[in-house]
Parts: sequence; structure tokens; C-alpha cells
Amino acid sequence: MTNVPGFPEETGFSQNSSLERDAARLDACVARLGEARDMVSSIIFGQDQAIDQTLIGILSGGHVLMIGAPGLGKSLLAHTLGKVLGLIDKRIQFTPDLMPADILGSEVLEEGIDSKRAFRFIKGPVFCQLLLADEINRASPRTQSALLQAMQEREVSVAGYSHSLPAPFHVLATQNPLEQEGTYPLPEAQLDRFLLEVRLSYPDQDAERRIVAETTRHKQPRPRQMLHADDVIEAQDFVRRLPMPDRVLDTIISLCRECRPESTSHDNIRRHVAWGPGTRAAQSLSLACRARAMLQGRFAPSHDDIAALALPVLRHRFGLTYGARAEGQSVDTLITETLASLQGS
Ligand SMILES: Nc1ncnc2c1ncn2[C@@H]1O[C@H](COP(=O)(O)OP(=O)(O)O)[C@@H](O)[C@H]1O
Ligand SMILES: [Mg+2]
Repeated sequence: MTNVPGFPEETGFSQNSSLERDAARLDACVARLGEARDMVSSIIFGQDQAIDQTLIGILSGGHVLMIGAPGLGKSLLAHTLGKVLGLIDKRIQFTPDLMPADILGSEVLEEGIDSKRAFRFIKGPVFCQLLLADEINRASPRTQSALLQAMQEREVSVAGYSHSLPAPFHVLATQNPLEQEGTYPLPEAQLDRFLLEVRLSYPDQDAERRIVAETTRHKQPRPRQMLHADDVIEAQDFVRRLPMPDRVLDTIISLCRECRPESTSHDNIRRHVAWGPGTRAAQSLSLACRARAMLQGRFAPSHDDIAALALPVLRHRFGLTYGARAEGQSVDTLITETLASLQGS
């Protein structure tokens, strides 16, 4: 086992006998994930980074916030992932008049054959495995928090009864970065519930040409199912079992601590950051780095994984000071500089 590429000695993999016993299953799992990813990118062009990051979010067992202008393929990505991963997917369009019961479901009074009346719970669209919460910032804070509570607890409580959500359960929530009028931005504590913030940008010229050519034909390419929900659960289980080298974990912890004004050694962070990422951010980065390593067929995460994922994992977990916002300071620059200083040391 020790001569398998990607299992460096220092990861302690050879001592990790339970993973070693499952090595054949792990290899098969990685191969299936690669096929699934190829299937998704045969439908969605020019957004490879967004595809990978969203997959990493799901493999890490998390929820993903997708930010991008309309028409960049967010809904298509969510639907395609649902189909390819074999997950039951639903979509909710958030609007100001959407009520918690429209998401969670509600109790209805029914009359049985014996003429007795009883309440029955009708499940709302949240009872699925991959939920696209479109334009989540358009709904009222009350409705947003109903969804965020379900995301956190993975169950729904209505009229004193708890109903478990299916497993796996992932939310892909979208926000339009341009339009802010009439929206309710998610509060910080709720943003922190998203493992990753994926940004979709406009495709380059070649990709856009291909999108237009392929999606306006008589027959549209359709995604094929490549995995089952159980395969997704197995992959999530492997992510948690992959070894985490000490030096990678140390960098993750140092990065999060250096991003907080309380514990930083960076003047820029102290001056511009009102509050930085909490411990959930470090947990998320640790899982996401392992998921990225696995997706690429490596069995231990490295500093490259931190570099690739620091922005999407951390950028929505910052509050800038008033002065920093007025000056137009960018969270991305602050994170990038902080990470560079750690890697240089
Ligand atoms: N990267 C892409 N690859 C393939 N088709 C795309 C891509 N981006 C946009 N499209 C096309 O544009 C349409 C609109 O995309 P959609 O997913 O509804 O956008 P959004 O949800 O971001 O507003 C899709 O149905 C698809 O035909
Ligand atoms: Mg859409």
C-alpha cells in the first residue's frame, strides 16, 4: 500500500489500517468521482473552477453559496449535479412573500374514512437531497432563517414534531451580486453556515461560443446519472477519513488566526478587519482541502489545496471596518497577502 502514489509516508497513511483495508473501494470511489465530474463538464462549459468548488463543497458535506450574474449557468449547474450524482433535486425561487411553510411544509387537517379528523404533515420542497435556493437574499429574514435552521439541524420541526431531512442533504443557494435593492443580505452568522462561496464569472470567448453553439441546437445534451446517493455518502465518509498532515493543518490554523484582528501579526488585518473567520472556517478548510485532494486522486491534502481554497472558504466570513469599506479594501487581497506571508515564512 505504501508505494501507491499520493500516500506520502508522513501522512501516517500506512498506520491508518482501516483506510488501507478499504483502499480498493477508495480507488473505485475516486474513479467514479472523476467520471461524474467529466459528465458535469460535458454539459457546463468554461466553469471548471465553479464545478470543482461546488463538488468539493458537497463532498465535504457542506452547503454552497453561488454568487454570479444571471444566465451564467448556476441553475444549470445545480440541476446537472443533482442528476449526475443521483440526488433528488428541487428548486425554490425566493421572493419577498415566500413564507417558512412554503419551504418546510405544513400540517393539514384531514378527515379519514372513519370520519375522524387528524393532522397530517405535508412535506415542503426542503425534503430533497440537493436544494437550489435561488436568490436567497430576496426572501424575508424569517424565511431565510427557516431554511438556514433546516440546513444546520438537518431536520424540520413543525407543530412540535421533528421530521428528518433525507441524507445527503445539501443546499446550493444563489445570490445575484449586482442587484441589492429590495433584498435582505444574509446576516454574518448565517453566511458562516455555507462551507464555500463559489463565484461564477463570465465565460471566456471560446467557452461562450461553445455554450451558444451547443445549447441552441435542436437536441440539447443531457446529463447522465453517474453516481447514487450512497456513493456520495461513501465519498463524504472517505474525505473525513483521509489523513491530514500536521504541517497542512498548522497552516490552516495559522491562516485563520492571522485573519482575525485579535490574533494577527499583520497590520493590514488589524486596521481593516472588524471580525475574521471563526473556528467553523478552519473546519471547513480542512474538509475542503481533503475533498479537493481526493477529487484529484491524491490521498493527502497539501499546501496547494489551501492556496486553491482559501478564498472560497474564507471570503464570506469577514467583516471589514467602516474605514476599510470606504477605502474599497478587498477581502480577497487581505486573504491572499496573509496566506503568502505564511508560505514565505
Ligand atoms: N457555462 C455554461 N455552460 C452551458 N450552458 C450555459 C452555461 N452558462 C449558461 N448556459 C446556458 O444559459 C442558460 C441559463 O443558465 P442558468 O443556469 O439558468 O443561469 P442562472 O441560474 O445563473 O441565471 C442555461 O440553460 C444554458 O443553456
Ligand atoms: Mg437561475
